[in-house]
This record gives sequence, structure tokens and C-alpha cells, in this order.
Amino acid sequence: MTAAVSAPEKPETKAPRLSNTRPGTRQHLLSVANLGPDGINELLRLTDMFVEIGRRPIPRVPALRGKTVVSLFFEESTRTRLSFEMAAKRLSADTMSFSVSTSSVKKGESLRDTVETIEAMGIDAIVVRHSAAGVPWQIANWTEGASVINAGDGWHEHPTQALLDCYTIRQQRGSLEGLQIAIVGDIRHSRVARSDVLAFSALGARVTVVAPPTLLPPSLHGWPVEVSHHLEAVLPSCDVVYLLRLQRERMTEALLPSLREYTATYGLTRQRARLLGDRALIMHPGPVNRGVEIAAEVADQPNSVITRQVRNGVAVRMAALYLLLGSGVDLGA
Ligand code: CP
Repeated sequence: MTAAVSAPEKPETKAPRLSNTRPGTRQHLLSVANLGPDGINELLRLTDMFVEIGRRPIPRVPALRGKTVVSLFFEESTRTRLSFEMAAKRLSADTMSFSVSTSSVKKGESLRDTVETIEAMGIDAIVVRHSAAGVPWQIANWTEGASVINAGDGWHEHPTQALLDCYTIRQQRGSLEGLQIAIVGDIRHSRVARSDVLAFSALGARVTVVAPPTLLPPSLHGWPVEVSHHLEAVLPSCDVVYLLRLQRERMTEALLPSLREYTATYGLTRQRARLLGDRALIMHPGPVNRGVEIAAEVADQPNSVITRQVRNGVAVRMAALYLLLGSGVDLGA
């Protein structure tokens, strides 16, 4: 299977590509599909510089001084929300955080009115997470001047997670070209899996999805992946094993006999982790359910880069914000 993953819902948008173009041209980061290998590599190269800035005693540059970045999260988040906030602050942008539970959404205000109200205050970027696929595209069409970043839309995409995953693998292995990557677990409900498959394959990796049939999408037509139901058969040849959480909040029916049986067949136990080669990386987007998809001690062993993924997330999001809002601005580095 070689064609790109088709988006389940992708409304029309005015300016979908992220690229370093003319100042004053509004851009968005909505999907890995819009980036292509060149866009991904451009962002990864820029991330190197922000990793270096992050090591300084004062890890701050004035690149986005005077800009305002709003976090608009309609779903829970720890990593994505806080790392975008830290990234914006390190670029000297002002930040605002929207909380659904204390907002006028609770009084019945619509998503569109909420977005237009926030934009009327004069903001430059909206970082949005929503349980419905396609919401970031809708917001991009409703706004006039703000750039929109997709921080996760339903089961659909999570582009900055995929970018930080690519960066982390590249940092450890030099390149993704020719690597064998297994993505294991709840592929069906995972926006991370969709964005990672697109990004990993765009950079030349070969991806195998490993899951019980009930946790695969109804159709894998167009996915550039191999499929396996046998984790133990896949592990010895993996360069990277990428575990996913069971997203029970998105399961509307019984898809598994029990958690115990899932772990027995698909969990990365200590015994199964021994099947991995010496250089193989263990990855997970978080949050981790220790003892379910991965054994607690395996999540902490030396070849696990889960914490490194989180750390790199700040620099990757700095690069994304800089490309969207700071093109042509002297980094003051
Ligand atoms: N990986 C990820 O999106 O984590 P959060 O839900 O904590 O943001």
C-alpha cells in the first residue's frame, strides 16, 4: 500500500501549508499531509536551533515579541498545551489560555462565536484541540488574521506530535530513511497514528501497524503501511516500536475482551522488550497507562525516549510558531 492516508474529514481551507513565505501572508499548521518531506525537513532543521536555545541559561529570544498566542483546548491535555505555552513564552510572545469550563461556552456560546470573539481581541495564533475531526479547518476559515495550529482533532490528526516524533528519531538515529517502525495498539482511534504514518513514511521509514482487528480502522485503503496482528513476530526487526494508549474515551462499543487480554497479546512486557535489537527505540506519545500497553519498567529503560519526546516537543513547537508568525524576524540568537 503506497498512497497517502486519506483524511476522514478535511474541509476546505484558505491557506493550508506551513512554509516560510512572505511576511503578512497568513499560514496554518493543520495536517502533516500539507507539509510533505520538504516542509517536515524545513521544520526539523529549524528545531535544531531551538534545541540549542533551550540549553542556554536564559532560553528566551525576542522573535515573537508583540505577538499573542491563544490556547483553545476543548479536550484535556498536559504535554501539548503546556509545551505550546512554554514555546510561545520562550519566543517572547504573549499567551492566553482558554478554559471551556470557565468560559461562556458553558452559557451556550457557539464555537464560531467563541473563535470570533477571541480573534476580535487582536491575536496572532490559535492553538486548538477539539474532539471533532475538522474543527481546526473550520476555525481557519472563520478567522481573518490569525494562524491556526491543529493540536489534535478527534481521531484525525496531531501534526506537532508527529513532528516531534520525527525529530526525536532523527536525533537518535540520524535519519528515518529505511527505518522499520512498528506502531502498536489502538490505531483506530489514534490521531497520533494517522499523523505519524504520514510523517514517518514521508521521511522514508517503513511502517507496520500492529493491533487486533477491532482496533484497526474499518479500511486501511491508501495507508502506506503493512499490517500485523503478531507483535512478537514484528519486534526483532524494529528500529522503533511506538506504543499507543487505548483511547477508551473514544470507544463506543466493546472492542476488547478485557484489558488483561489486551496486555497479554499486545502489551510491551519486559519479556517482549527483550526481543528488540540493541539500538531499537521505545516511544509513546503519552499519557502512558503503565502496565497496560507498556510495562512500567520498560517505559523507563535506557532505550525508551518517551521523556525525550516531551522535551523535544517544546523546541518543535517553537519552530512551528516561528515559521507561522516570525518569518523574516531576526531571532536575536
Ligand atoms: N501526546 C499528547 O498529545 O499528550 P497530551 O494529551 O497530554 O497533550
